[in-house]
Amino acid sequence: MPSTAEILLPDCSGYARAAAILRDGGCVAFPTETVYGLGADARQGRAVAGIFEAKQRPRFNPLIAHVDSIGTAQRFVAWPHEAEVLARAFWPGPLTLVLPLRASAGISPLVTAGRDTLAVRVPAHPVAQSLLHAFGGPVAAPSANPAGRISPTTAGHVLAGLGDRIDAVIDGGRCPVGIESTIVGLWDTPVLLRPGGLPAEVIEAALGQPLPRQDEGGSLTAPGQMASHYAPGATLRLNAEAAGPRERMLGFGDVQCDLNLSRAGDLSEAAANLFGHLHRLDAQGATAIAVSPIPDTGLGRAINDRLRRAAAPRP
Ligand code: TXA
Ligand code: MG
Repeated sequence: MPSTAEILLPDCSGYARAAAILRDGGCVAFPTETVYGLGADARQGRAVAGIFEAKQRPRFNPLIAHVDSIGTAQRFVAWPHEAEVLARAFWPGPLTLVLPLRASAGISPLVTAGRDTLAVRVPAHPVAQSLLHAFGGPVAAPSANPAGRISPTTAGHVLAGLGDRIDAVIDGGRCPVGIESTIVGLWDTPVLLRPGGLPAEVIEAALGQPLPRQDEGGSLTAPGQMASHYAPGATLRLNAEAAGPRERMLGFGDVQCDLNLSRAGDLSEAAANLFGHLHRLDAQGATAIAVSPIPDTGLGRAINDRLRRAAAPRP
């Protein structure tokens, strides 16, 4: 399919054009420090519906509202003490907080999928910050990939997946963190809804209390928890020491492989490379991928979470 999206530069005229598209109810993809997001005005129902349409995302799966500052976030959600602690420590950055929605917030119910909580985040990426300033309102943005596929970490990934379904993409190069934000639920006792770009250990240290993982068997609080998600075209075999006959090897550490997440065994480097390497193996037509074991601490927890989902049987 030919790409019809405008490709915008991260400069004044690019931000002005992107903000105008958002005001007109369109969808613009933009880089954040984690992955590219597909943004729309969170107050316009038709605009938000356009995101679900473009991604073919199930309507019950709510979106994150991106805002420029703590002060703006407080206009949309209730603000308990833990929100103050975590936002002061980690915003702007790869952390999303799920908080009670203010009824008067004016956020489209499509964003929250009709819930009484809203996920909010202040992204650190300078391009995301500039876009939020130019637009001057809350931007609802899921990762800019077709539902159930690998998240995009370059503008090229966005165009390959959604180029004929969105209005524009701001090309801000490669996303430095490379894995989606960590999501913490704060409507009651703090819970970890999705491991991500900010290690849970760091959040626990700031809170001074453990952050239990919300059990996945119970109510589906974060549908990002659905088993098969982030799926590449190929099947994945995890914790592999070496590739089998028809497999490509995605390595970690000093191992023989086709692509290495981090030869030095650095988890930040591995997170930054994860989706890009999976996209590359996919584009090369890999049908089976063997993946080295990844330590399950710090960012490794988020990497293993995404790998497990990518390896899960497809619905
Ligand atoms: O890093 C990120 O978080 C990226 C960038 C673009 O900011 N965004 C992202 O969005 O990963 P998405 O839609 O792919 O994942 C958001 C997750 C989903 O699993 C969704 O179910 C969950 O957040 N979520 C959103 N609102 C929620 C809510 N009110 N309660 C519980 N989970 C929520
Ligand atoms: Mg996503």
